[in-house]
Amino acid sequence: MTPLTPFDLRCEHLAEARGLNTSVPRFGWALAGDGQDRRQTAYRIVVAFADGDRVLWDSGKVASGETQLIAYSGPPLPSDAALAWTVTVWDEADRPSGPAAPALLFTGIKHEEWQAQWIARYFVLPAGREVPADTIYDNRWQARPADYLRRSFELAERPVRATLYVTALGLYEAYLNGERVGADVMAPGWTDYHRRVEYQVHDVTALVRDGGNVLGAILGEGWYSGRVGHNQRRAGNHYGGRPALLCELRLHYADGRVETVASDADWQTRQGPICYSDFLMGEQYDARLELDGWATSPGELPGWQPVEVFVPDPAAPLVEAARVQPAREVAVLPARFLRLARSGAAIFDLQQNIAGYVRLAVTAASGDRFVIRHAEMLDADGELYVANLRHAVATDIFIAAGRGRETFKPRFTFHGFRYVEVTLPPGRTPDSVTLEGIAIQTDTPVTGEIETGSALVNRLVSNIFWSQRDNFLSVPTDCPQRDERYGWTADAQVFWKTAAYTMDCAAFLTKWMLDIADGQSPDGAFPDVAPTKPLNPYRLTPQPGAPGWGDAPIIMAWQHWLAYADRELLETYYPAFERWMEHIARANPDFVRRNAVYNNYGDWLSIGPASDRALVATAYWHHIADLMERIAGVLGRRADAARHAQLARCIREAFAQAFIGPDGRLSGDTQTAYLLALDFGLLAPEHRQAAAQRLVALIREAGGHLQTGFLGVRHLCPVLTDIGRPDLAVDLLLKDTYPSWGFSIRHGATTIWERWDGWTPERGFQSANMNSFNHYAYGSVGEWIWSRIAGIDTDPAAPGYRGILMRPLFEERLGHVRARYRSHRGDIESVWTFQGKDDVVWTVRIPPGCTARIGLPRGWRRVDGDATHEAPALASGHHQLHLRRS
Ligand code: BGC
Repeated sequence: MTPLTPFDLRCEHLAEARGLNTSVPRFGWALAGDGQDRRQTAYRIVVAFADGDRVLWDSGKVASGETQLIAYSGPPLPSDAALAWTVTVWDEADRPSGPAAPALLFTGIKHEEWQAQWIARYFVLPAGREVPADTIYDNRWQARPADYLRRSFELAERPVRATLYVTALGLYEAYLNGERVGADVMAPGWTDYHRRVEYQVHDVTALVRDGGNVLGAILGEGWYSGRVGHNQRRAGNHYGGRPALLCELRLHYADGRVETVASDADWQTRQGPICYSDFLMGEQYDARLELDGWATSPGELPGWQPVEVFVPDPAAPLVEAARVQPAREVAVLPARFLRLARSGAAIFDLQQNIAGYVRLAVTAASGDRFVIRHAEMLDADGELYVANLRHAVATDIFIAAGRGRETFKPRFTFHGFRYVEVTLPPGRTPDSVTLEGIAIQTDTPVTGEIETGSALVNRLVSNIFWSQRDNFLSVPTDCPQRDERYGWTADAQVFWKTAAYTMDCAAFLTKWMLDIADGQSPDGAFPDVAPTKPLNPYRLTPQPGAPGWGDAPIIMAWQHWLAYADRELLETYYPAFERWMEHIARANPDFVRRNAVYNNYGDWLSIGPASDRALVATAYWHHIADLMERIAGVLGRRADAARHAQLARCIREAFAQAFIGPDGRLSGDTQTAYLLALDFGLLAPEHRQAAAQRLVALIREAGGHLQTGFLGVRHLCPVLTDIGRPDLAVDLLLKDTYPSWGFSIRHGATTIWERWDGWTPERGFQSANMNSFNHYAYGSVGEWIWSRIAGIDTDPAAPGYRGILMRPLFEERLGHVRARYRSHRGDIESVWTFQGKDDVVWTVRIPPGCTARIGLPRGWRRVDGDATHEAPALASGHHQLHLRRS
C-alpha cells in the first residue's frame, strides 16, 4: 500500500478563494488511496506567502481524521496578501503523504480598507452622440451605449506583485495594458446591490510594466440597470440608472512599499463600439466605432471626458469578497447550418439548448450588418419560435469595420437557445460565416457522472445536467431565455439535492443564502425570488413567502449540511429561519396553513386534478418544522428541538383532522397529496397503508402516468420506492408517452421543459405566456437516479459522506449503471451490471476515512464470500459484490 494522497484542496469551499469575508477561513481536502480500510490519522496544514516561502501558519502535525472545514488558527491574516497553502496527511500506519500541490488563497481587502471611489459616466450624453433610433425596441427601454473607462499611469519600476481588486454596479470587463484581466463573464454577479456587491481579485503582476501603463474597464448594465424580469413597467433600472466601477490596483515593491492606483476623479470615460447591451434585448456592436488604443496607449487620448465620482443611491453597498466561483465560458459547441428561413436568413443548430451567446467570425465590408437571433425551438414551418421569449428580444447585431477577418461575441448579454438565425448582408451565403455557441455558467465544479444501459435515462441525465448548467448563472435562475431569469426559490429547493450530485454547490449556496436572507421581509417572509430589492418599494416579484418557495432556505440549508457537513448555513441563518417559522405560525394559529399571507402557487404547473393548496402548504409546514427540529439538534439547541417537534405534532394532528376523510382519502385526492403526506411523515401507520394504495391506484387511473407539478414531482420515484413499488418508479422513469420525462426526450428535448405539455403533437406549443424549454424543476428526479438507482446517498447519521448510504435498485431494464461522485472527502463509485437474468456484479469504491451502509433491494442476497442476507457495512476501498435474486 502507498501513502494516502490529499487532493482537491478547498478553502471556504473554493479551489481558489479570491478574497475572504472571514478571519477564520476553513480548509478541506479529499483523499485517495489504494487497498481497503484506509484512513487519515493526522494532518499538517501550512499557509505561506505565495511569493516566497515565509510561513504564516504551520498547524504542526495534528492527530485527527478530520479532512473537512478545519479552521485557520494562525496569526491574524494580513489584508491584500497572496498566500498558498498545502496539507500533508498521515495514514493508519503513520506514513506521510508528502505535501499536496499548493492552492492559492487571496485574503482580499475589507470594506473599510478600500481607497477607491465609485466612478461613472456623467448622465448627459456627450454632444453629437445620439443613440441610434433603430436600437430602441420599445418605449419602456432606453438603449444606452456601454461606457469605456480608463486611467493611464507611470511606474518608475516594476512591482514584485500587482493585484487588481475590481467590481461594478452593473457588469464589467477589466483591461490592463490591453490585456483582458481574467476570464470571468458577467462579473461581479448578482446581489441586492443596495446592500452588497462582491468584488473579484486578480493577480496582474505579469501585466504591469515600468513606464506608461493603462488600466481600463468596459461597463455593462446587467442586473443592476438593465432589464431583468417580466414586470414591463419596471423592467429596467432595478437598482440604479447607470453602471459604475470600483477598482483598486495594489502594487507591491521589493522594498515593502505599496502603491495604489484606484478609481477616482482622475479617470476618463467615453462611449465606443457597444451601442447597447442588455440581458433581454441583446447587444449591438459597431466595429467601426472601436476605440483604437484605448487600453494600450498611455497618456491623453482625444474625445475622452472626466468621470463623475458617484455616490450610490440609496446607500453605498458593502463591498465584499466573492463567495462563489466566477461565471466563465465552459463549453464551445459547433453550429451546423440547417436551412434558410423564409426571410432568407440562415438558421443554424447547436444541437443543444444552452445559455450563453455565439461567436461569429466573418470577413466583411465596412458597415456590413449581421443580425443574430436566438431561439430554443423551431415552429412548424421550421422558423425560429420566439413567442415564448415574451419581451426578450434576444437579438445581437454586429456591424463590421471591414478590417479583414473579424470576430464578434457579445460581452454583457446572454440568451437561452439552441437555434441561431443570422441575417447576412446582401450577397452573402451561410458558408461565409463561422459560428459557434458558447455556454456560460457559474463555474461550479462538475462532481457527478452517471451512465446506464438506457439511452433514454442517459439523455435525461444529460438534460438535467444542461438545465443546471444553463441556469446556474451567479444565482440559480428559473430559465435563461425569456424576460424572467429570476432566482425562484421553490424551483431551486426541489432540485437542490439533484444539483449537489451533479456539481459542487457548496459555495454557490453559501452565496445565494445570503441573497435570500437579504430579501427577508420585516415580518419574516422569505422572498420567492432572490436576489430581490426590499429596500426599494418595488420588489422584483410582487409578493414573498409562498409555501414551498419561502420554505426553500430551510430545506436547502439542511441539504447543504447533509452533503457537506457544513454547519455554517444552519448556524448563521437559524434566527432568520425562526422568524420565518413565526411568520407562518402567526397567520395559522390552528396549525392548518390556510393562510399563506401573501401568495400560494400550490403544486405549480401540475396536470390533471389540482391539489388542495392548503394541504400542500400544511404538508410543507410540517416538513420544515421537522427539519427545524433536526437543525436545532445539530446546533445543540435542545429546547428549540423539542419546541419544533411539538409544532410538528400539532400540525400532524391538524392535518389529519382537516385533510383525511373518513374513507382515508386525502382532500383533493391527487398524486401530490399522497406523495407529500407519505414523504413528509404526516400519516399515522393506519393511514400510511391506505395512502400508499391510493397513490398506486391514482397512477394506474392516469394510465400509468404522473400528474405532479413542481412540488410533487420530486417525491414520485422516492416514495414509490419506499412503499415497495420500485417497479412503478422505474416505469415512470422509462415512460415516453405523455406526460413523462421521456415524452420531451422523444420530441427532441436537450434540456428539461418547464411544462409537461410544453409541446404536444396534438396541440403544438403551450401558451407562449409561460413556456420555457429550460427549467430544471422537473429534473428533480435526478436525486432518485443517484440515490436509489446508482445507490449513492448521504447518511444523516454521518453527514458529508463520512457515512454513505448505498441502496441501489438492480433494475434489469437498465442493464447496468456506472456512477461516480466526487464528494468533498473523495471519489465514491457504484457500478452494477446484470450478468444473466438474476445475477448482478456490483463494484463499489469508498474514499479513505468513510464507510458505507448497504441496503440491498428486496429479494436480493449476496452470494460471494460473506454471503448474508443484509450485506455488512463496507469500509473504505474497492469492493466487489456478487448478488443473486431469489
Ligand atoms: C417561474 C417559475 C416560478 C413561478 C412561481 C414562474 O414564472 O418561471 O419557475 O417558480 O413563476 O409561480
